[in-house]
Amino acid sequence: MILLTGATGYIGSHTWLELLQAGYRVIGIDNFINSSRLALGRIEKLSGQKLDFVEGDVCDEAFIESIFQKYPIKGVIHFAALKAVGESSANPLRYYENNIGGLVTLLQVMQEHDCRHFVFSSSACVYGDPDQSPVKEDAPLRPENPYGQTKLMSELILRDLEKSDARWRVAYLRYFNPIGAHESGLIGEDPLGIPNNLTPLVARVAAGRMPELKVYGDDWETSDGTGVRDYIHVIDLAQAHVKAVGYLLAGRDSLTVNLGTGQGYSVMDVIKAYSKVAGCAIPFQVVERRPGDIASCYSDPTLAEKLLDWKACRTLDQMCADSWRWQSQNPMGYQS
Ligand SMILES: NC(=O)c1ccc[n+]([C@@H]2O[C@H](COP(=O)([O-])OP(=O)(O)OC[C@H]3O[C@@H](n4cnc5c(N)ncnc54)[C@H](O)[C@@H]3O)[C@@H](O)[C@H]2O)c1
Repeated sequence: MILLTGATGYIGSHTWLELLQAGYRVIGIDNFINSSRLALGRIEKLSGQKLDFVEGDVCDEAFIESIFQKYPIKGVIHFAALKAVGESSANPLRYYENNIGGLVTLLQVMQEHDCRHFVFSSSACVYGDPDQSPVKEDAPLRPENPYGQTKLMSELILRDLEKSDARWRVAYLRYFNPIGAHESGLIGEDPLGIPNNLTPLVARVAAGRMPELKVYGDDWETSDGTGVRDYIHVIDLAQAHVKAVGYLLAGRDSLTVNLGTGQGYSVMDVIKAYSKVAGCAIPFQVVERRPGDIASCYSDPTLAEKLLDWKACRTLDQMCADSWRWQSQNPMGYQS
């Protein structure tokens, strides 16, 4: 059985579905700090299976212990974390407590239960402002905000653990920019509060929930002056997790890989693609650059492709079309 933490969140919910479809038994946990319990019914509907789920906090050792006592867990995919970059600068201790505290608690309980297969949600944030793109896994690691620091520190904690006991097997998955939604439109990204990444904002503007999009700078050194990122469809990302957990459970060595398409798209490219699928203009206003933003960052995903026999294949148009289907079928997210 696979333990999924942060199972009702954006990437967790899509990965849960993909794992069930691949035949894995899954126990999901979440404290709903940034997700809705209504996601559970949707995953159940899509999978046609009754879900195993327990509400609780990864920082709560007694809770995690109870999960390991009850379920025969062979591997863990750890999504549970706070992820808002700006908020992490305003309130760093909350981020260190949740993201590092939760990780350490989970690893301690795993160790006591002889469970040493771990898939970790890392991020392109660990590279900070890379010297060049495409970024390879051996690029310098220099995160620029507390959120990114929690991801790098988590990687270091896991690497120390591996050195202390050769039985640990860890997949360090560095995601670039996940967007899109399941093609059914039943599950998708539904952040509580005001979203802080591009496509949920574009989606809300397209749906008329927000008057316009702010574009932070059009004078970057990129083809059209707006920031360039590597967007990856959340289903491609979820499928990489199925591959990664299978890889570790098959007894293979730990691995550190970028998960992206390897293709950079600008903010304007996203606005154009979204506007096409939504059939409306996306009003935007160019404003000052935000401190900490960077011009361009996209991955070299060839190592993941080789080791995991996986490739992100969905296009930007598909990502926007699926995001729009989710948005238009659920104008207020899961509460709709
Ligand atoms: N979405 C991205 O752009 C992105 C990029 C790189 C890395 N990541 C990482 O991927 C993981 C999943 O991201 P996501 O986009 O699905 O975020 P999300 O916020 O949608 O999902 C995270 C889930 O974890 C839960 N959670 C948080 N703290 C918890 C705790 N202490 N105990 C139990 N549950 C807790 C939240 O309620 C939420 O359901 C995170 O670790 C995130 O840092 C995300």
